[in-house]
Amino acid sequence: MNRRQIINDPQTGNKAEAFEAADDCPANPNLRRTFGDVAAARHGRRTVLNGMLSISATAALYCASALSGTLQAASAATSSKSRYAFDELAWGNDHTHHIAEGYDADILLRWGDPITADAPEFDVMNQSAEAQLQQFGYNNDYIGFLPLNAEGTRGLLCVNHEYTNEEVMFPHLGRQDKADFAGMTQELVEIEMAAHGGSVVEITRGSGGKWTFVRDGGMNRRISPLNTVMGVDGPAAGHPRMQTSADPSGREVIGTLNNCAGGMTPWGTWLMAEENFHGYFWTDETGFDGEPDASGHPEAEKLERYGAPGNWYAWGKFYDRFDIGKEPNEVNRFGWVVEVDPLDPQSTPMKHTALGRFAHEGAETTLSADGRLVIYMGDDARFEYLYKYISRGSVSQDRAANSRLLSDGTLYAARFDPDGTLHWLPLVHGQGPLTDENGFASHADVLIDARLAGDALGATPMDRPEDVSPRGDGTAYVMLTNNSKRKPGQTDAANPRPDSDFGHIIELKENGGDHAATRGSWSILVQCGNPAIAAVGAQWNPETTENGWFGSPDNCAMDAEGRLWVATDQGRKWDKTGKSDGLYGVETEGDLRGHSKLFFRCPVGAELCGPYFTPDNETLFLAVQHPGTDGTTSLKGFERESTFEDPATRWPDFDPAMPPRPSVVVVTKQGGGKIAG
Ligand code: FEO
Ligand code: CA
Ligand code: CA
Repeated sequence: MNRRQIINDPQTGNKAEAFEAADDCPANPNLRRTFGDVAAARHGRRTVLNGMLSISATAALYCASALSGTLQAASAATSSKSRYAFDELAWGNDHTHHIAEGYDADILLRWGDPITADAPEFDVMNQSAEAQLQQFGYNNDYIGFLPLNAEGTRGLLCVNHEYTNEEVMFPHLGRQDKADFAGMTQELVEIEMAAHGGSVVEITRGSGGKWTFVRDGGMNRRISPLNTVMGVDGPAAGHPRMQTSADPSGREVIGTLNNCAGGMTPWGTWLMAEENFHGYFWTDETGFDGEPDASGHPEAEKLERYGAPGNWYAWGKFYDRFDIGKEPNEVNRFGWVVEVDPLDPQSTPMKHTALGRFAHEGAETTLSADGRLVIYMGDDARFEYLYKYISRGSVSQDRAANSRLLSDGTLYAARFDPDGTLHWLPLVHGQGPLTDENGFASHADVLIDARLAGDALGATPMDRPEDVSPRGDGTAYVMLTNNSKRKPGQTDAANPRPDSDFGHIIELKENGGDHAATRGSWSILVQCGNPAIAAVGAQWNPETTENGWFGSPDNCAMDAEGRLWVATDQGRKWDKTGKSDGLYGVETEGDLRGHSKLFFRCPVGAELCGPYFTPDNETLFLAVQHPGTDGTTSLKGFERESTFEDPATRWPDFDPAMPPRPSVVVVTKQGGGKIAG
C-alpha cells in the first residue's frame, strides 16, 4: 500500500498512527549486515561516579537529579525485595486515568489553560492563534522541572507540545489527512502552529501538598513554530545548506517542530528534541504512485533518507518555507536539539547542530567521570540508530560556558556486536568513511546527514530507538518501542525478534562505569509483550504478574533512587495487549531484575509521556498525550474513530461541551512522602 492508501485504510487509527504506519524510510543500507543470534553472557563493571558538582543552588539540585541513583543502585544489587513500594494497579482500558492506591493523580495543566496574566480564557469553539500563543499547547510530551527554591516547592515546568490532532481539536472538521487537507484554512493552520512547541510554566506546591500553576508567573513563556526566533550554532551554523531566502545567514530559524521528549542539562536549561520534522514539509507534486514527489529537489536522495516531504500537515499550502519546492533548505534547519533557558523568558532558543540531525526522540543528559556532558539520543524510526554526544570540555559554574559545551564535542552512533560489546562510532569528518569521496564534504555535512554518516560507519539499525535513561554509574536503559517491518532474515542479537509488535529494553554498561567511554557492553533487560503467549517471545522476571507486563516502551525516567520507570505508547496496537498505556516500575538489579509493576494508566486512546520526578522524589509529573484518539476502533462499545463532536472520552473535564484535552498530571503520595518509597 502506498501512503495515501495506508492513511485511508479503515484499520489505521488516528492521524499519528497512520503517519507512523506510512512512515517507512527507504531501506537502510546497513540492513545488509546480519549478526547471528548469539548473545554471550555479559557483565559490565560498575564504578560509582565520584564527585558531585557544586554550582548554583538551583543547578546543584539539578545535578543531584542528573546523577540520580548512583549509590542506591549499587547497594541494591543483591536485593530480592521489590524496590518499588506500592501495590500494583490492575490493568485495563477505560475512559479515565488510574493510579496505584495511596496516591493522588491530579490534573495540573490542560491544553488551552491561560498561562499569561492577560491570556484569554480557553474558548474551544472560538479558538485563535493569538489566544493559543498565550495558552498551554497541545499534546504535551517531555516534562522537565527546574526548582526555584531550595525546598523544591516552587519551580518551572518545561513542557514540549509535540503535534496536533485536528479531528478532536476543531469543531466540524474531521481527519484532514484523509481529505487532502481540504478543510484546512490558514487560520486553522496558524492555530495548529501556535499549539506546537513548548511551554514554560511556574508551579508551586501549597501547604496542603498540592501543586498549582501560577497564571502570571514572570518566567511563563510559549515557544512555537509560528513566531519564536531561534539561533543556530555548532559546525553546521551558517553552512550554505542551512541558508534560505528569508535567512541568508543560515543562523536564524523561526520555530521548532514535533518536540517529542527532551532533557534538562546539569546547569538547568531545557533541551527540546525535534522528532518527526519531515512530516511538516510539503509538496504539491506527486509521483506515479500518488505519493509526494521530491525528485526535482537538489537533495532528493538525502530527503528520501529522512522521509521528507511527509505532507502530514497543510502548513506548506500557506507558508512557502514548508514547501520543499519553494524553499529547499528549510528542511535542513529542523531535526536538531534546541536548548532553552527557562530562567530568561527573553532568551533566544538555540539549535545545537553538534548533536546531529535526525528524528530526535529525546536528549537525556548525564556526566562523565571527569565532568563532561554526555547526552544519549534515539532516532525514532524503524531501523535507525542510537547516538551519544560527549562534550569536549567539562561542566563548570559558568552557565554561558556550559551552553557552549553543546557546540563543541563529538557525536557517536552505536554498534551492538553479537558478543555483547558496544562500540561508539565517531561521526567526525575525515575519519574512516566520512570523507569527500563518500559524499561528506565537511563536518557540517556529516551532522546535517547524520543518518547517512551512521550508514557509512556501520551502526546497528534498531527497532525504533525512543527515550534513554542514563544513571550516574555508567549504566543507561534504551527503549526500543517496536518494529513491525523487521523480517526474519533481518534480526540480530540486539534486535532479536522479527515483526516486533511489543519492543524491548536494552541495558548499556559503559566501560569503567564512565559515560564518556567509547566501548561498553549491552544486554537485553526485558523483551516486552504477554509472557503467557509463547509465540510472543516475551522475557520478563517470572514474578511479573498479568498487570505488570507491557508493550511498546517509549518514554522513561530514572528517579532519585536510581529506579527505572517506563511509559508506554502502543498506538493502535493496544488491542494486541488489551491494556491502555501506562507507567511501570521496572527492576534492573538483583533477583527481581526484569520485574515490572503497573503504577499509572491512561484514559483510552492516550499514550503516556514525560515521566519526571522532582529531585526529592515526592512528586511525579506525567504527560497524557492525545486522549481519546489511538485505536478507538478497537474499543468495545465505541468501535469508531473519535471526532470533536463524538470522542471516545472527554477526559479530563468530562464536560459535554469540551473535547478530550491533553493534560499534565501530577502524582503525589496521600499524606506526603516519597513516591514508591
Ligand atoms: Fe514522539 Fe517517538 O515519540
Ligand atoms: Ca515518545
Ligand atoms: Ca512512540
